[in-house]
Amino acid sequence: MQNRMMITGAGSGLGREIALRWAREGWQLALSDIGEAGLQQTLTLVREAGGEGFVQRCDVRDYSQLTALAQACEEKLGGIDVIVNNAGVASGGFFAELSLEDWDWQIAINLMGVVKGCKAFLPLLERSKGRIINIASMAALMQGPAMSNYNVAKAGVVALSESLLVELRQQQVAVHVVCPSFFQTNLLDSFRGPTPAMKAQVGKLLESSPISASDIAGYIYEGVARGDFMILPHEQGRLAWQLKQRDPQALYDEMAEMAVRMRAKGRQTQA
Ligand SMILES: NC(=O)c1ccc[n+]([C@@H]2O[C@H](COP(=O)([O-])OP(=O)(O)OC[C@H]3O[C@@H](n4cnc5c(N)ncnc54)[C@H](O)[C@@H]3O)[C@@H](O)[C@H]2O)c1
Repeated sequence: MQNRMMITGAGSGLGREIALRWAREGWQLALSDIGEAGLQQTLTLVREAGGEGFVQRCDVRDYSQLTALAQACEEKLGGIDVIVNNAGVASGGFFAELSLEDWDWQIAINLMGVVKGCKAFLPLLERSKGRIINIASMAALMQGPAMSNYNVAKAGVVALSESLLVELRQQQVAVHVVCPSFFQTNLLDSFRGPTPAMKAQVGKLLESSPISASDIAGYIYEGVARGDFMILPHEQGRLAWQLKQRDPQALYDEMAEMAVRMRAKGRQTQA
């Protein structure tokens, strides 16, 4: 029976909701994040929902903290069955304005954090014939304007997940990748970008979601149970992805027009 899950970025937003969804099934959760207050709150909610577990501070940029977390899972839970590489940060800004430091920061957390999570936990997952759930984004598939560093990091998460899907089948380690559109969480708190106007625009997109982080966690639970590899929780996202596969040029044209509108809006806000 599989019932032990590790989640990064579990102190807030989607990570917390995933913990609660699996807690309702009585799972044991290894909850990690850089924010310790949020983690304690998640653990309290997990217990109220019927789960158990422990918390450990872990910055996904630091491989030694991830291997220490894997060691803790070994000692406290006797291993791990599912890992969720969820920790992430937001960024935005046109390519010409993004600094190389903005790129390094984004790639170190949103892409290399996932690579390091998979690497640190692979020996445990091979033993348990477990499963990897990587949280990417629709940005990985649609490449919207003014977020190239985020798009690249998330596209890397999809490519990594596809690579692992193929490589780990023989070891019976399952892989899933989740690509949500925008939804309301605390993601804006971590926003980094060259202009405040861009942050305000991203904030509006987060607020516009018709579904909540809890809905998305429920959708992921069902997708994993069905054995879906790519999980797209937003109806709009599924339609846009179908359109791009049928007619990529139509999507590029739409995105190019969106870039023009965003530049105009940015200029208005600055004026
Ligand atoms: N909210 C959205 O619109 C949206 C859309 C698509 C994908 N996502 C992805 O969902 C995931 C969860 O984000 P969320 O929306 O719940 O945001 P959130 O800010 O509410 O939660 C993210 C968590 O990650 C943690 N974190 C940040 N940097 C970290 C690090 N270096 N090491 C460990 N933990 C770290 C934060 O402390 C926070 O608790 C992210 O990967 C994000 O990119 C979010």
